[in-house]
Order: sequence, then structure tokens, then C-alpha cells
Amino acid sequence: MVEEKEKERVCVTGAGGYLASWVVKFLLSEGYLVHATVRDPCDDEKNGHLKKLEKASENLQVFKADLLDRQSLCEAFAGCAGVFHIACPVPPGRVPNPEVELIEPAVSGTRNVLDACIKASIKRVVVVSSIGAVMLNPNWPKDKAMDEECWSDTDFCNTSENYYCLGKTISEFEALEHAKRSGLSMVTLCPSVVIGPMLQSKVNASSLLLLALLKDGRESVEDRPRPVVNVRDVAEAILLTYKNSEVEGRYICTSYVIRSKVLVDMLKSKYPNYNYPKSFIEVEEEVKLSSEKLQKLGWNYRSLDETVNDALKSYEEKGLLGEDRSTGLKMSA
Ligand SMILES: NC(=O)c1ccc[n+]([C@@H]2O[C@H](COP(=O)([O-])OP(=O)(O)OC[C@H]3O[C@@H](n4cnc5c(N)ncnc54)[C@H](OP(=O)(O)O)[C@@H]3O)[C@@H](O)[C@H]2O)c1
Repeated sequence: MVEEKEKERVCVTGAGGYLASWVVKFLLSEGYLVHATVRDPCDDEKNGHLKKLEKASENLQVFKADLLDRQSLCEAFAGCAGVFHIACPVPPGRVPNPEVELIEPAVSGTRNVLDACIKASIKRVVVVSSIGAVMLNPNWPKDKAMDEECWSDTDFCNTSENYYCLGKTISEFEALEHAKRSGLSMVTLCPSVVIGPMLQSKVNASSLLLLALLKDGRESVEDRPRPVVNVRDVAEAILLTYKNSEVEGRYICTSYVIRSKVLVDMLKSKYPNYNYPKSFIEVEEEVKLSSEKLQKLGWNYRSLDETVNDALKSYEEKGLLGEDRSTGLKMSA
């Protein structure tokens, strides 16, 4: 009789978050045994949805862990073959103390995760970075698409007070250096603005961007080009790069560049009754970003139409569009 192969055990950090929840869902559906780290296992508003995922009752174990507490990470990683490091603060706007609220958890947190990976003899790691670690580079040639060679300039992040991007840039750079030094098998993935359906109930920052366009009815918004990608496509890219254990380095994960006005026109034609912005301020800016490296691994992405429709369906199901209140988002939409 052939014995059934033991299921692979993996850990996902920040599992209750927007993107990580989809990663947990896909891992469970593929039969993995999943350790999910969250900061507060009793907070059902943030994490309750994890227990409702298919196969969660048999194959999901929730661990309390903070990125700044290495021991808690070591406990969550024990017995795992792989780690998906996704946790990181993603605030919707400025924070009062960026050093403590953004840089420290991103940089020291990632360092702690990778040290804990070595301790637990983890075989493969995916670290989720961001195009924030790619695009803030004023010296990149304007006519050339930004690819994995392009790094955000930390001085520029600092002077432009873009501390989220600063944290992501330093943490990703250090992670890749750590892997070179330690021999850890690792990739980093840099998604653009992630949109699409939500599994969790607490609204995350990038979903707020789309919700603000639907609800806030502002007089005017800047018509900036934004690179976007579907949350399920990012989760699939994370699994794809994990399984291709021979590949390493950075992977940009993005599908479309879309301006707010085009997106609003698209939404209006299907859902005319929401509280859209009344006018748009032209912004002369171009975004050229390439996911060719990821596509060569076999990554595909869903249509923008499907992405937006599924996002709206999930907002409707969660009652997020029925309220009259605005999102209160301060960022330019
Ligand atoms: N959404 C995007 O557009 C986008 C684009 C590019 C890259 N990313 C990256 O993708 C990842 C997930 O983002 P998301 O949009 O899914 O954000 P999210 O929904 O806000 O999730 C972030 C998660 O990080 C956890 N976290 C924050 N600080 C922590 C700490 N000190 N210790 C442990 N956990 C901590 C949060 O846990 P709590 O619930 O306990 O607060 C939360 O579960 C992040 O690394 C982000 O930088 C996101």
C-alpha cells in the first residue's frame, strides 16, 4: 500500500490581513497545513473570517505573534517547511510616529522573521514587499519601464516623507542581503496597489481607495495613473514563486495602470448610483512598470472588469456601500 504523502506545513504572518487571508485560503484549498500568525487571536472583527475558510477546522492553527517579538515567531514557525511573510503596517494615510509605527515593524520585523526562519530550518520563504520599494526613484530613465533592477531611493523617500515606502525599501533590500548571507531560499514579491474582493471584515487601506471613489462624492480628485493588481492574482503569484523553489530575487506583480477618471467612468457605466467624484484634476505623470519576469514564470492576471465587479460585490455583501458616511480617507484618490 502506498502511504499518503504528509501534507506540507507552512506559516503565514499577518494572516488576518487583506492579502494574507487570500493566501491562507488558497493554501488551505491546496491541502497545506497552515500556521496563521495574528496579533490578537480573540479579535474576531480582524481575524474571525479565517476560522470560516474551507478546511480551516482541520488544517488551520492560529498563533499569537508580533513581528517585534522574535520568540513568538519562532513558536509559530516550528515544524514548518515554508514561511510567507506578509505582515506589515499599511496605514491609509500619515502616521504620527513613522519610525515606531512603520519603519520598526517593517525593518526589524522582517529581520526577526528571517532570523526565526533560520532557527526553524525553514526551506523556502516568500517576503511580500511593494512597488513602494521600486518606484520612488527619480533617477530612473523616463522612457524605460521600471523592472526588478529599479530600487526606490531612500533619501528621496525620506525627503518626500514617504515612510511606508522607506520601510519597505530597507526591509526588502536587507531581506535579499540576508538570503545571500545565510543561504535561505527566498523570493521577494512587489505588488502594485492591490484591489479586489475582501475576505476580512475590517476595511484595509488599498480597498479604501476604491471605496472612496464610490462613496465620498468629492468635488475633485487628482487624476493620477495608478498601477493596480487583483488580490487573488497576487496571492497566486505568492504561491507560484513559493513553489518554483529554484527562483530567487525580486518579482514585480502588477497588471494595469489606470487613471481615476477612467476607473470612475468604467464604474459609472455599470453602477450609476454611487457618490462619485464630481471632477478630476489633470496630472502629468506616466507610470511604466513591468511584470515580465513574473509572467515568464507562468503568472497570469484577471481582467480589470472582473476585479472591479468582484470587489463591488464583496463591498455590497459586507454592507460597506449602503452607508451615507464618507470613508474619511485623506489620501488623494
Ligand atoms: N494592499 C496593497 O495595495 C499592497 C500593495 C503592495 C504591497 N502590499 C504589502 O502586502 C502586505 C499585506 O498588505 P495588506 O494590504 O493585506 O494589509 P492589511 O490588510 O493591513 O494587513 C496587514 C497585516 O499586518 C499585520 N501587522 C501589522 N503590524 C504588525 C506587527 N507589528 N506584528 C504582527 N503583525 C502586524 C496586521 O495585523 P493586525 O491585524 O494585528 O493589525 C495585518 O494583519 C504588506 O506587507 C504590504 O506592505 C500591500
